[in-house]
Amino acid sequence: MRVKKNSLVERYRGRRVNFAEAEEFLRLFHAEHEQHAEGELRSRLDQVRAEIAETGGYRHTTAELEFGARVAWRNSARCIGRLYWQGLHVRDRRAVAGAEGIAAECAAHLREATRDGRIRSAITIFAPDTVIAPGPRILNEQLIRYAGYRLPDGTVLGDPRQLEFTATARRLGWRPPERRGLFDVLPLVVNDGSGPRWCALPGDAVLEVPLSHPDHAWFAELGLRWHAVPAISDMRLVIGGVHYPAAPFNGWYLGTEVGARNLADTARYDLLPVVADLMGLSRASERTLWRDRALVELTLAVQHSFDEAGVTVADHHTESRRFLAHVAREEAAGRVCRADWSWIVPPVSGGQTAVFHRYYAEPDPAARPAFLPPG
Ligand code: ARG
Repeated sequence: MRVKKNSLVERYRGRRVNFAEAEEFLRLFHAEHEQHAEGELRSRLDQVRAEIAETGGYRHTTAELEFGARVAWRNSARCIGRLYWQGLHVRDRRAVAGAEGIAAECAAHLREATRDGRIRSAITIFAPDTVIAPGPRILNEQLIRYAGYRLPDGTVLGDPRQLEFTATARRLGWRPPERRGLFDVLPLVVNDGSGPRWCALPGDAVLEVPLSHPDHAWFAELGLRWHAVPAISDMRLVIGGVHYPAAPFNGWYLGTEVGARNLADTARYDLLPVVADLMGLSRASERTLWRDRALVELTLAVQHSFDEAGVTVADHHTESRRFLAHVAREEAAGRVCRADWSWIVPPVSGGQTAVFHRYYAEPDPAARPAFLPPG
């Protein structure tokens, strides 16, 4: 096989599974499946020990893979939406190879997760790293993101967060639409071992919501929109010592993620000045609280528009209550729910939500199964 420069294969050193990590996971799996007899754990451990000795790795059963992915979500200290961890829909695509095949499965994932707006949480798991070959990588941070272009005057058109990725996609040969805009859906960039390649994301896999405001007719004229499904695609799923570098997963949005962050952050779409001016607020001083007032209306517009379009969207008050229900449920099950306060507390009206008024058990970087940063 000829291997291109910059390929994963060329630099790959091989990933051998540590039996102790496999054992820890298999014990957890059996402990949480009470119907399993003690003998089953012992014979599975023997089998996995032998498989690792022979091949340097082992293959998860479908049930182990499902459970591992769900517990990786349960262990995600930054996620407020964990009440639903047991409902994660797991798509086992370990056998899918080739950039085009992987991209096609990402599109299929989005269609299955979107369901015309009745969004469900899903994960697609591609091949793991093994001793002889790396698993595939998806370079996009999310399956759906909007391009960012640096204009000659130094300003940015689109999402500034995607400047570098957009440049990478263009270097690989992707061409932006003839008329570039604020919300150009980026292609997927997949490295199947032979070097990164771009693959188009079919339009029918991407549901978007045009944004309007319940009381301000002018809002719709801004021509703003956002995608319905947040699907993180660059995190590594680690289960029982096995690393799955491509395992895109999605939940549904909280209105604040879009209205109070993506569209509002000064390093993102930075729309608060525009919204404040159209609301007729004075920006002469910070003390008019124009930012705060515009932020609420922008978040309300997102929630209203998703509702109108029949697309699942949560609000931070409800989701905060559900998270505390999750914490209580975990404690009742004899587990600690670790959480990162600064990620759990919503970016608007923090003190109005119950999650603000307490602390949580510190996140444990060694917790497994887990979603880890790309690598
Ligand atoms: N905050 C990220 C975004 O706006 C998405 C993170 C995951 N969010 C979720 N609701 N599952 O794109």
